[in-house]
Amino acid sequence: MTYNNLAKIHGRLELHLAGQPEPPSICVDFCGPSFKYRLFKGGGRGQALAKATGLKNNAKPLVFDATAGLGRDGFILAALGCRVIMCERSPVIHALLEDGLRRAALDRQLESICQRITLYHGSSQEVLPQICRQQRPEVIYLDPMFPHRQKSALVKKEMRALRLVVGDDRDSNTLLQTSLQETGQRVVCKRPAQAPALSGRTPDFTINTKKHRFDVYLSR
Ligand SMILES: C[S@@+](CC[C@H](N)C(=O)[O-])C[C@H]1O[C@@H](n2cnc3c(N)ncnc32)[C@H](O)[C@@H]1O
Repeated sequence: MTYNNLAKIHGRLELHLAGQPEPPSICVDFCGPSFKYRLFKGGGRGQALAKATGLKNNAKPLVFDATAGLGRDGFILAALGCRVIMCERSPVIHALLEDGLRRAALDRQLESICQRITLYHGSSQEVLPQICRQQRPEVIYLDPMFPHRQKSALVKKEMRALRLVVGDDRDSNTLLQTSLQETGQRVVCKRPAQAPALSGRTPDFTINTKKHRFDVYLSR
């Protein structure tokens, strides 16, 4: 693949990809109105992500977001009061996320949320066991790249661009195994509605939304 440009434009890091009919670009922006609407006027603790994470009775678990990507799910969990450790292995996506978090920390509405987030660079297969030696996260959250879909027009432009950078996460079954060994309370896997469970393993329960579902595995 020809990469183009990872460049600072108007104070924010953007990745522009070449060689595409409609050149996609990616940046991480937690400060825009649509994401803030989702944060502050979205479903709060009633949304599927919060229910899957077990945010009942004012619970504020430590969450390890093992596939941080562009950081949105992890950021929402931090906005709901969780402490969130994000981990991203792609150096390019990590740089974009780090830049998005840096700018969010300068935003008065978001700065306290950012104080609950720590970002690591590396593979969660290695970072997670190291973290667990100090403090075991109650929740481990997995959202690996979905397997390639035929109807690519249905996949959002940003997701298509992300796939061009990181490819398919073909080791996600192994990551589930590691997560099940390390978690304090539960592992949550975000999956496309029709996709099989990771590793073919039946979850303890599932929460469905229109587009995807959360498979929840409780620790024994
Ligand atoms: C679908 S994206 C996650 C999107 C994210 N939940 C969000 O809300 O923006 C998947 C990301 O997980 C990362 N990833 C996959 N396996 C990983 C691993 N073992 N360790 C760290 N990052 C991983 C990929 O590089 C990719 O950026």
